Amino acid sequence: EILEQQNGRDYSTFRLTASLDKVYLCYQPDDLRQVPIQPMPLVLGEGSNTIFIGDALPPLCRFLAKEKQLSWQSDGQALLHVEAGHNWHQLVCWTVEQGLWGLENLALIPGSVGAAPVQNIGAYGVELADRCGYVDFFRWQTQQVERLTPADCGFGYRDSVFKGELAGKGVITAVGLMLSRAAKPVLSYQGLDQLPADCSQQQVLNTVVAIRQSKLPDPAELANCGSFFKNPLLPDKTAQALKVRYPALPVFRQGNGSSKLSAAWLIDQAGFKGKKLGDIGCYNRQPLVLVNYGEGTAEQLLQLIEAIQLQVQARFGVALEPEVRLLGRPGWEASPL
Ligand code: EPU
Repeated sequence: EILEQQNGRDYSTFRLTASLDKVYLCYQPDDLRQVPIQPMPLVLGEGSNTIFIGDALPPLCRFLAKEKQLSWQSDGQALLHVEAGHNWHQLVCWTVEQGLWGLENLALIPGSVGAAPVQNIGAYGVELADRCGYVDFFRWQTQQVERLTPADCGFGYRDSVFKGELAGKGVITAVGLMLSRAAKPVLSYQGLDQLPADCSQQQVLNTVVAIRQSKLPDPAELANCGSFFKNPLLPDKTAQALKVRYPALPVFRQGNGSSKLSAAWLIDQAGFKGKKLGDIGCYNRQPLVLVNYGEGTAEQLLQLIEAIQLQVQARFGVALEPEVRLLGRPGWEASPL
């Protein structure tokens, strides 16, 4: 199905106005073969990590198939094959209802299953990479689906091969998830450490949902794309030196020579928490999230991003990099998928 003359507002949960010439909707893998690949279409899920900041946009392609299949392995392990158009949170709830462990910490993350591997979604101590068995990828060039192993996917912190080498080259059509019937709670993250060791998946899910609802705005009520910046990774030495100067700075050693700093803390300290520029704001309960109060514009957003980056750089010598995909303005693309 082809839709013409669409407004970008309706395709991104940040809801900035942008003009989209064409949107191809594909309901099954075969439909992808009908999509013209000159110019190369831009693949979009539910738009919960993409912001349109201009009109220089190719046709969009959305893959909406959402069948799923569960197969049990002998040892209580389960393999869940899910098509990319399935909503992520609904899938998480369904696995918990089935008595499966594995996805409960990733509850309430907005977006589709197909978007999950792209930025290697992660929350409360678990990443998609920890549960991923494979990713099926339809390549525009060959018109074939390939099955990628987790190693092929090149997962990193909010990163994967789908943002790098494979960016723009095709569509994720399905994901294979490795789940388990045996209890495997991950309770190390602050807020989950209060739960008893013998808790249920449902308890973990409920706790994650409660924490998220207490600090993250619901995109259906206040337009946003979740964390706007990545938490910066610095060499351990540099991070420790900063910690000496700012003892309250949250620093998390990654165990590979680099340390993750809390971008929320840096932005908070730089004085942006709750600040507004026109209709674009830095959310008061979680300053890592930028929000659009209704009529925000790309110009306001870009000004706020720049102001935050400049202040954080000036005060702490740390560069903040957008985590959200910014599209439609040449030179501004954060990660061109
Ligand atoms: N903090 C402040 N001031 C605030 C809020 C937080 O200083 O106003 C500091 C606190 O020290 C807090 C720390 O920031 O302990 C971390 O906050 P939080 O636990 O909310 O996590 P985050 O690092 O800000 C990351 C992810 C989230 C994910 C949470 C939980 C990124 C870019 N963001 O946020 O992911 O839900 O951890 O695991 O890694 C997303 O990617 O869209 C997203 C929401």
